[in-house]
Amino acid sequence: MSFSKEFIWGAASSAYQTEGFSRADGGGASIWDTFCSTSGKIADGDTGEMACDGYHRYQEDIGLLAGLGLSAYRFSVSWARVDPEGTGNWNERGLDYYERVVDACLAAGVAPWVTLYHWELPQAVEARGGWLSRDTPAAFARYAEHVAMRLRGRVAGWFTLNEPQCSCYMGYGTGQHAPGKQRSPQEVFLCFHHQNLAHSLARQTIKATDPGTGVGIAVTGRLCCPATECADDVEAARRVSFDCTGDWSFTYPIVLDPVCLGRYPDGAPAAYAAALPQGDLALIHAVPDFLGLNLYHSQSVRMGADGRPEYLPRPVGHPRTALKWPITPEVMRWGPRFLYDRYRLPLYISENGVSCNDKVYLDGQVHDPDRIDFLRRYLRELRRSSGEGVDLRGYFHWALTDNFEWHNGFGERFGLFFTDYEHAGRIPKDSATWYGRVAATHGEVL
Ligand code: GCO
Repeated sequence: MSFSKEFIWGAASSAYQTEGFSRADGGGASIWDTFCSTSGKIADGDTGEMACDGYHRYQEDIGLLAGLGLSAYRFSVSWARVDPEGTGNWNERGLDYYERVVDACLAAGVAPWVTLYHWELPQAVEARGGWLSRDTPAAFARYAEHVAMRLRGRVAGWFTLNEPQCSCYMGYGTGQHAPGKQRSPQEVFLCFHHQNLAHSLARQTIKATDPGTGVGIAVTGRLCCPATECADDVEAARRVSFDCTGDWSFTYPIVLDPVCLGRYPDGAPAAYAAALPQGDLALIHAVPDFLGLNLYHSQSVRMGADGRPEYLPRPVGHPRTALKWPITPEVMRWGPRFLYDRYRLPLYISENGVSCNDKVYLDGQVHDPDRIDFLRRYLRELRRSSGEGVDLRGYFHWALTDNFEWHNGFGERFGLFFTDYEHAGRIPKDSATWYGRVAATHGEVL
């Protein structure tokens, strides 16, 4: 069995992680510029100042992607580059850059998939309250409209936001991510609420501007897989995956329930929501055309003897990635299935991949059998999901090139291409060629 011929094979990146030179040509500082210049926040004191120099090397990168035979590139537009103050005082040269990126994709036969917020909040917006401010959603929608005006008719699909689960919870809860705030759960909830609003307002302005193109959102969160195929275990895993009565801050429903179903999940979110201005939920309830799932790992759950779901401890010595994330291929089967059952929307895997201890070997090449093995396992499970009736449309490998891995800095390498940061060079890893064959054969080589 293979994937359908229409299934899209692509790769992904984001602006701050890849471009560098955020202030070039009139760009503004984002919260990540500020955060990286605060000592102690990023491993080894790394910053995205230069990153992979994607700002100057986008054409080469798009050429590498096209050279593998991939047909789609997911990248992000930096809000701060385009709208430095967040006030609609546009930096047209920033927009020119993204126009060049889109045109380079089209010239190479690659479909551009644009994310409008991969965490590049203008620092000026943060200074006015950031995602805790009720003005931010409207500012975001105005920015989205302006980008759509410039790029309309050329973009294959829009993702409004990337992972509110990270930018709210880690940005305003744990403080591990920019802007590094540690606020109360109620304020973290408010960030989510404002991002949910931002998604829906932006969806409206994009739809009005670029009506032919789908608008979705890329999300992540806790997912559980059943310990066995038996119906009770499946039910237990599904329940725990969507349960928000306990820890709700890193879950799918905190974003997707209001956006797709028009309500906040039971538990603290529903309680906080009761105090919100009336009418917000009606505004937020704007069902996306598709969902982007950023899937990496899951936990195993079974139904306990007392009829309550219980987590299974991981077996001793369970395999892990370089970043110490558990390797759990089954998330690619059950994750899409549970999310499809609940929200009934077309799905793209907008991110999946693995950090390995990649290096250049004595023969000058980068051999990464661990990545190939990881992908083979994960993609086989994805194929199963697709064969079981889940409406899966495409897969974007994270990432195209090694890049700035947020608070982990440059030490973590997720790319199909190895980045030589000193010379901003790129070397294809073995997995790049292998992944190209997966795409060319619609998954038959898996
Ligand atoms: C995220 C982001 C990516 C990361 C990737 C690996 O999920 O945190 O979308 O920017 O680099 O997921 O951690």
